Amino acid sequence: MRLPSFIRPLPTLLGVAGCLVSLLGFHATPSIAEKKGERVYSFNDQGELIQPQGYREWIYVGTPVTPNELNNGKAAFPEFHNVYIHPDHFKKWKKTGAFPDGTILMKELVSVGSKQAVSGAGYFMGEFIGLEATIKDSKRFKSEPGNWAYFSFTQEGKKPTKTTKAMPADKCNFCHQAFAKDDWVFTQYYPVLRAAKPGR
Ligand code: HEC
Repeated sequence: MRLPSFIRPLPTLLGVAGCLVSLLGFHATPSIAEKKGERVYSFNDQGELIQPQGYREWIYVGTPVTPNELNNGKAAFPEFHNVYIHPDHFKKWKKTGAFPDGTILMKELVSVGSKQAVSGAGYFMGEFIGLEATIKDSKRFKSEPGNWAYFSFTQEGKKPTKTTKAMPADKCNFCHQAFAKDDWVFTQYYPVLRAAKPGR
């Protein structure tokens, strides 16, 4: 298409302006859920958490690994734990250094696939073998310590499920309450969250 000569530079100018706007950070529009203060997760009529989807595209924060070999052959959470936080809540953490009401983190367990690669001996990820979640919700979980509830979609000896009830506090919450660095979350093992925390 031929444009009149005086507006020919316009597309380029608009492009440059667009880039500048993104560079200055003005493109960071809040998601719809964040704007309305809505929850990004949902529960069914039985009060069970519906397995969140798309979490592998959230913000990845770290991968602790507790292999059986280093735990007398019986690690409580064997192998790799890939941890993700929803982008809306990461954004708030980055700004305030706190986890907002409605925060959700997912932890996906991955088996140790191989212990040898061209780079040397070590632990290399195998298959996805488990999925857990934690949610901070002051309305739904007002009686849970810190308002955090814990969920496991995969429990030993049982088939994985698409929905699951919150675990009793004495199974999960107590350990997070006692040992996690920031508000029930083990940020001491998540370099991405540590690096993003303001005032560090
Ligand atoms: C003995 C202590 C302990 C118990 C009990 C425990 N956790 Fe954790 N949890 C950890 C540690 C340590 C981490 C840090 C990452 C890792 O090593 O997996 C963690 C991380 C997590 C995370 C990632 C987000 C975060 O808070 O750091 C989720 C989700 C999670 N645990 C779910 C559960 C569930 C569900 C249960 C109960 C079935 C449970 N945890 C019981 C120690 C515990």
